[in-house]
Parts: sequence; structure tokens; C-alpha cells
Amino acid sequence: IRERLGERPIVLVGLMGAGKTTVGRRVASLLSLPFVDSDAEIETVSTMTVPELFEAYGEPEFRALEARVIARLVQDGRRVIATGGGAYMNADTRALLAEKAVTVWLKADLDTLMERVGRRADRPLLKAANPRKVMQELMDMRYPVYAKADLTVVSRAVKRDVIADELIEALG
Ligand code: S3P
Repeated sequence: IRERLGERPIVLVGLMGAGKTTVGRRVASLLSLPFVDSDAEIETVSTMTVPELFEAYGEPEFRALEARVIARLVQDGRRVIATGGGAYMNADTRALLAEKAVTVWLKADLDTLMERVGRRADRPLLKAANPRKVMQELMDMRYPVYAKADLTVVSRAVKRDVIADELIEALG
């Protein structure tokens, strides 16, 4: 992986609550690289929040914007990019990342994910009556796809500093 890394960005994928933003920020700081979060970038360019975008334009529009933003972010050289949980489901985005980035799946179990998204109302996909069931369905659908990432790092309920260290170790 170290060889493959070269000047490529390190791109974190995985479900909501896996810790992509927190771990990504920490990894970037340890490696002295810039950090960027695709949801935050989308909010900056659209001047709307993610829930507002879902509400106003619907999920397909959000996904199209997300793919464009990520395509731009990966062109900007070596950095750490945390992506929104659905970004890696886009086949074009996956192909682009396979070519231009090193991808890391932050894999977590259902309890860990639910604990971390628990008190936050900023995930439109989890507004359902039974968010735990939705999360389980997303795990079933997405885990086989996330598994295509270059590396998998298990994100457990320990301090995320530990996960960041493990991620850097996995990079070789
Ligand atoms: C989504 C994950 C969110 C955000 C949007 C949709 C998803 O990002 O992009 O709510 O489809 O899993 P995080 O994974 O950063 O919460």
C-alpha cells in the first residue's frame, strides 16, 4: 500500500457513525496532510446543509453533487478525505477512487454505529421510525461494496486516536 500511496489522497469510506471524520482528521494531523470532509465541502459549495439538500432536491441530486465534489477533491493531491456514507456506492466514484486514491473502509458493528449517530439529527436517511433497522439494512447492502476498498480498518468502541494509529500502521 505504501508504494501505491505515492501522492494519492487517502479516502475514508464507510457508514455513518463509523468515525470517518474524526479518524480522518486525526490521521491527517499525524501525517501533516490537509483534511477535507466531502459532506462539509458539499455544504460549502451549495450553501445548504445536507438535510436541506435532501429536502429541497432529493437524494439523487445530492448524490450527483457528491460525486462531482469528490471527483474534484481527489484531483488536489495528497490529503485525507472523509466521504459521506453513500459516496462509495456510486460506481463512477469507485472507479475514480480505484485509480486515483487509496481507499480505507472504516468498518464498525451495528452497536458502535448506532451509539455514534445516536443523538444527532443531521442524517436524513436515519429519520425513519426505526433507525436501527435502517442502519442494519444499509450494512447488508453496503458492506459487500465497502469491502472493495484497498484497506479495511475495524473501528471499534475505543478511542478514535487508537483507530487512527491503526490506520496509519495499515498503510505500511
Ligand atoms: C449518507 C451519509 C452522510 C451524508 C448523508 C447520506 C449515507 O454522511 O452524506 O446523510 O448515505 O450514508 P456521513 O457518513 O458522514 O454521516
